[in-house]
Amino acid sequence: MSTATDDRYNTLEKSMKKLGYDKSALIETLHTAQETFGYLGIDTLKFIAQRLRLPYSKVYGVATFYNYFRLKPKGKHNVVVCMGTACYIKGSNKILEKIEQRYGIKVGETTPDNVLSLLSARCFGSCSLAPVVVYDNVPKGKVTVEDSLCEIEEMIK
Ligand code: FES
Repeated sequence: MSTATDDRYNTLEKSMKKLGYDKSALIETLHTAQETFGYLGIDTLKFIAQRLRLPYSKVYGVATFYNYFRLKPKGKHNVVVCMGTACYIKGSNKILEKIEQRYGIKVGETTPDNVLSLLSARCFGSCSLAPVVVYDNVPKGKVTVEDSLCEIEEMIK
């Protein structure tokens, strides 16, 4: 998914704009990015570096320095459930609960076989499509519990 068509990048862009693209707000920006994406992927870090006009090595260095930041989910596959208000109202908490029950893991955890990591995010910026779930970096909207469980089964088989 490109940065131009992925609403999550718009959310991140708005946040950086609000802070005046201030280089000294890098940590705050990384927090926002992690809340938006569930983790900090290389494309996301490059996007931040470019927008804040910082060397990629600096952004990567800060992201790896703090234990709080997660550079990638541990599992081979990952699912990120949006827990923002719009998605929550439309039942994303139920989707999350079912995934937790089915795979025996909590948010932030990975199955013992390292196949699936479950993450949550605050808002992907696609609220009109709530509830939204991202499967291996592909966002899907208006998701039901059943859709979500099927999607994950397909993804990990
Ligand atoms: S609250 Fe889920 S996309 Fe905005």
